[in-house]
Amino acid sequence: MRPQFALLVVATADGFIARHPAHAPADWASPEEQAHFLAAVDAADWGILGRRTHEAADRPDRRRIVFSAAARRPEWRRPTQLWLDPAGLAPDDLAALVAPVRPMRQAVILGGTAVHDWFHRAGRIDRVLLTVEPVTFGAGLPLFSGQSGPPEAVLARLGYRAAAERPLNGRGTRLVTFLPG
Ligand SMILES: NC(=O)c1ccc[n+]([C@@H]2O[C@H](COP(=O)([O-])OP(=O)(O)OC[C@H]3O[C@@H](n4cnc5c(N)ncnc54)[C@H](OP(=O)(O)O)[C@@H]3O)[C@@H](O)[C@H]2O)c1
Repeated sequence: MRPQFALLVVATADGFIARHPAHAPADWASPEEQAHFLAAVDAADWGILGRRTHEAADRPDRRRIVFSAAARRPEWRRPTQLWLDPAGLAPDDLAALVAPVRPMRQAVILGGTAVHDWFHRAGRIDRVLLTVEPVTFGAGLPLFSGQSGPPEAVLARLGYRAAAERPLNGRGTRLVTFLPG
């Protein structure tokens, strides 16, 4: 069966995922978002992330696929952490590479921007779990390259539709689920 890829992301109301490459969500997102994030990561078979996001929140115990152009060939750098350059690969190839360690049924795409771009270009974001925090940065790393504005508008522009929404707290943090098409 094909793996399901869910993009799990928290964005500001003006569409940024970080102020700078070392700015982790733990530094600015709400406790309720962090709890939701950890539960979703725990429930997934694999997390897929770029080198900087991995380094900003190193967790040796997690099952991770880390994208890095410097990984010339897929390399297990820890028992459950595979580094690779995704150039020339497709999302479903990732499942085949990690299957001996743990079959990939559900995977979470954990960013950053270029990782979001890679899955979107491949048409393999099956679901977006977007948390919108009621804060603005004014500048920073966007949800997708070349896109600006509120995150829900960005996703709509890229062809995703909002399917469900619920508050995560009483302070304006919202979890919105988007589906393709
Ligand atoms: N708000 C959120 O939900 C959220 C989500 C994710 C990240 N973040 C934050 O955003 C920051 C990092 O994001 P970022 O966008 O700067 O970096 P990133 O995507 O985490 O890492 C970028 C690096 O990953 C590798 N990479 C990514 N895509 C690749 C591709 N298609 N092909 C080859 N290599 C690829 C490259 O590594 P090499 O340089 O080794 O080639 C690239 O320099 C961190 O602060 C993180 O905490 C926030």
